[in-house]
Amino acid sequence: MKSRQFIALSCIVLLPAMAYAGAAQKPIIDSYLAAAKAENAAFSGFSAERGKSFFLAKHDASSETPSCTTCHTSDPTKAGQTRAGKDVAPMAVSKTPDRFTDAEKVEKWFTRNCQSVIGRACTAQEKGDFITFMASL
Ligand code: HEC
Repeated sequence: MKSRQFIALSCIVLLPAMAYAGAAQKPIIDSYLAAAKAENAAFSGFSAERGKSFFLAKHDASSETPSCTTCHTSDPTKAGQTRAGKDVAPMAVSKTPDRFTDAEKVEKWFTRNCQSVIGRACTAQEKGDFITFMASL
């Protein structure tokens, strides 16, 4: 394939995908990108697949909240529920477009939920993978 054709084809394939992956979430993803590179020199980009595994994983830190899915359910396009029975809007950006757009809110909940579910703070890579996954749905 000639390079000009390749570039044209790449634009057709990539541009809609990039627009879909949540332009509103980009500033926050970019800030985690810088932090993830600082954490790990070998870091090569966020992965929705890794974010999905992280979201579904069961951890040993707490028997009450063993997983993110305890409150957010295993289907992020569905509403979840707190342990007190309060509704939690879907995490999928396609369902709740203002997810991951307020850096202070995002950090507050990562701090709280990572601590209770995993027993430690999440890394920048885990946070970026998680948001990348939610923006891909
Ligand atoms: C005990 C219930 C519970 C668990 C377990 C839980 N969350 Fe949440 N999460 C909430 C609630 C409640 C909110 C705030 C309400 C809302 O945003 O709809 C929230 C919000 C968030 C937000 C902010 C989203 C935004 O709109 O910016 C992030 C990020 C988040 N959670 C990540 C996680 C991750 C990662 C895990 C697993 C490590 C997890 N949560 C596990 C209850 C939970």
